[in-house]
Amino acid sequence: MRVGVPKEIKRHEYRVGLTPGAVREYVGARHTVVVETNAGEGIGVHNDAYRMAGATILETAAEVFSSADMIVKVKEPQPVEWMQLRKGQILFTYLHLAADAQQTKGLMESNCTAVAYETVTDNHGGLPLLAPMSEVAGRLSIEAAGTALKRFNGGRGLLIGGVPGVQPARIVIIGGGVVGRHAARMAVGLGAEVTIIDRSLPCLREIDDLFAGRVRTRFSTMEAIEQEIAAADVVIGAVLIPGASAPKLVTRGMLKSMRKGSVIVDVAIDQGGCFETSHATTHDEPTFEIDGVVHYCVANMPGSVPLTSSVALNNATLPFGLALANKGVAALVEDPNLRAGLNIHAGRVTNRAVADSLGLPFFRVDEALAP
Ligand SMILES: NC(=O)c1ccc[n+]([C@@H]2O[C@H](COP(=O)([O-])OP(=O)(O)OC[C@H]3O[C@@H](n4cnc5c(N)ncnc54)[C@H](O)[C@@H]3O)[C@@H](O)[C@H]2O)c1
Repeated sequence: MRVGVPKEIKRHEYRVGLTPGAVREYVGARHTVVVETNAGEGIGVHNDAYRMAGATILETAAEVFSSADMIVKVKEPQPVEWMQLRKGQILFTYLHLAADAQQTKGLMESNCTAVAYETVTDNHGGLPLLAPMSEVAGRLSIEAAGTALKRFNGGRGLLIGGVPGVQPARIVIIGGGVVGRHAARMAVGLGAEVTIIDRSLPCLREIDDLFAGRVRTRFSTMEAIEQEIAAADVVIGAVLIPGASAPKLVTRGMLKSMRKGSVIVDVAIDQGGCFETSHATTHDEPTFEIDGVVHYCVANMPGSVPLTSSVALNNATLPFGLALANKGVAALVEDPNLRAGLNIHAGRVTNRAVADSLGLPFFRVDEALAP
């Protein structure tokens, strides 16, 4: 198959669909890879590295779109991109269609086969192509908190780890999933006092084992959240209810109990956020202050570390992308986890959540794939 990698064009998107390491794997499996010139510029990878890996560099996105059988990207296609997709062509990227009627229509009209990273599943009910970005965001959340805690950024002027004889920061993490555990790992590593709150007892048991008592755990109730945030220097919002907006677990009233200069990092902001006072911010202006509490609410945290994020994403997408390249749509028929990623095929919506949220007819994958 001919696999194409256009340069990302969404503002502030520096990641790339295939790294040179991934290109080598495709080429090793006897596929042809075409890469738009400077596609890897945002992660400091130049055309020569792609050539060395066996790719051909093309001068324009138009050449990539028109010549490839499968397009591998990171961000959802922009209008100028989806207009270049065609019948039978596979698109493999993040799509997030449920809230994007315009893009869904565009992809339906293109008649392409659109496989969304975010709905590919694994055998344990997880979302393996979302997990790497949660790992990155979780780890970054503590770096963001450390920056916001500095006096000149509006924070309390506290060093996360303290020093001998001085109390370290108290960090409370609401949600002990992928983001929460990776935040805890960083916070523990820096020497903070860490508490994780979750509503799942099995999750709290796992965390207790994992951190061997180095992290306190609490079951999620309003009372526990109220008590913990009142004593916290940093609160990380890391909850997720799959398919739903984040629950508002910290109200404006509760915020008043927090100390001036303490910090909230609402990682769940991409699902609406779990603090009533949150609103999405960007890397240009990541924080704002309410009631003396610094809020960091960047909806695309992994975008600030595109090199780490691109490699982490490629590690996760590679086996699925290779299966698509090797077998085409037959890969979707064979693998139920990859099939869960199929959102649109030949003008039909094959993901129930997308169809329901946009009021469009839903087609089962076998119906949609039937000739
Ligand atoms: N801002 C960003 O750049 C960015 C990047 C990656 C992920 N995220 C977001 O971070 C959030 C967490 O993602 P994840 O991968 O860790 O999800 P996850 O499913 O692995 O973990 C979510 C956890 O929240 C817990 N939870 C649900 N309701 C709760 C409640 N009422 N009280 C306490 N805990 C509760 C669940 O039990 C689960 O352990 C998601 O909203 C995700 O979209 C944001």
